[in-house]
Amino acid sequence: MQSHKQQVKLVALMTPEPASTPLSQPVFSPDKPGTGLYPHWRDQYLQDFESKRQRAATHHRLTLNLDTTADDDALQALLVAVQQQGFGLYKFADATFPDKDLEHGDVKDRDLEHAIAQLNARLGLKHSDQGVLSGSDGLSRLEDVQDSGQRRFLPYSNKMMNWHTDGYYNPPDEPVRTFTLHCLSPASSGGTLSLLDPYRLLISVTENAPELIKLLAAAKAMTLPSNKDEFGHSRPDRQVPVLFNYPDHTPGLRFTMRSRNIHWHSAATAEAMQRLAEMIEALSDAQTHIRLQRGEGIITRNVLHKRESFTDDKDCKRLMLRGRYSQLPKLAN
Ligand SMILES: [Fe+2]
Repeated sequence: MQSHKQQVKLVALMTPEPASTPLSQPVFSPDKPGTGLYPHWRDQYLQDFESKRQRAATHHRLTLNLDTTADDDALQALLVAVQQQGFGLYKFADATFPDKDLEHGDVKDRDLEHAIAQLNARLGLKHSDQGVLSGSDGLSRLEDVQDSGQRRFLPYSNKMMNWHTDGYYNPPDEPVRTFTLHCLSPASSGGTLSLLDPYRLLISVTENAPELIKLLAAAKAMTLPSNKDEFGHSRPDRQVPVLFNYPDHTPGLRFTMRSRNIHWHSAATAEAMQRLAEMIEALSDAQTHIRLQRGEGIITRNVLHKRESFTDDKDCKRLMLRGRYSQLPKLAN
């Protein structure tokens, strides 16, 4: 039987709006995994999981001007999806012909980019993590950039990118809470994204291998050695946990499958990361695969994701605008 206090906490936990609803205490305890609010949080999260996941992967249609009542409803539903499943999918549509896909020629890139900037503003996504390479609007243009200094970063190539969360190398007090991807043009082939909510992974670890949690939650679980290059980018040594709680008590994950230029605290930590990678693969039923088309995008609370390699041709060159933010989305007035 839940106490009144517990019930109040759970209501706060599961209330769909805003996406950044803080919790009164963490659901994830490094010292005592599976205790406290966790069992209720897990049950609520897993309830109707598959239908919620499919709903999140359904396009929420938005007009380019974002000025209709239907837009308000779609944005609201998008935020619920982000909170419940970690991501929401949207599709810009012509207000006059909402079922028509936005092809090149229907709308200019400039107008689409303006709509994307307006969408970010409506979702209160302002404080962008500039990352290594960003445009003046705070959005990075991800494309395969041959023969340039940018290409040494995986996102700016056409190569496969394995499971990770964005900004896993950021300082602990500058986490990436949200990342967004907006498609201006898909590749000729490939480039599909796979998404997995870290909440689902946390449940899997807690249920199947709780002994890993203390190792992964250690403050120095992962060390990213300092990095300097001829392009002027510089980063000091950084030590961060893999699993942690945000100040609002929601669980966080920093993850990469990269093995070069990364040190694990101990052999046991390295093994725990390997187990985590295996659990991600085992959760294939909970993964969502999306190939974004022009005018489509995703808003996510920094879920685990990977990208398959892609091929461009002269008429179809993949171009995505990526935003990274230190806050969660919520409807701005
Ligand atoms: Fe990423």
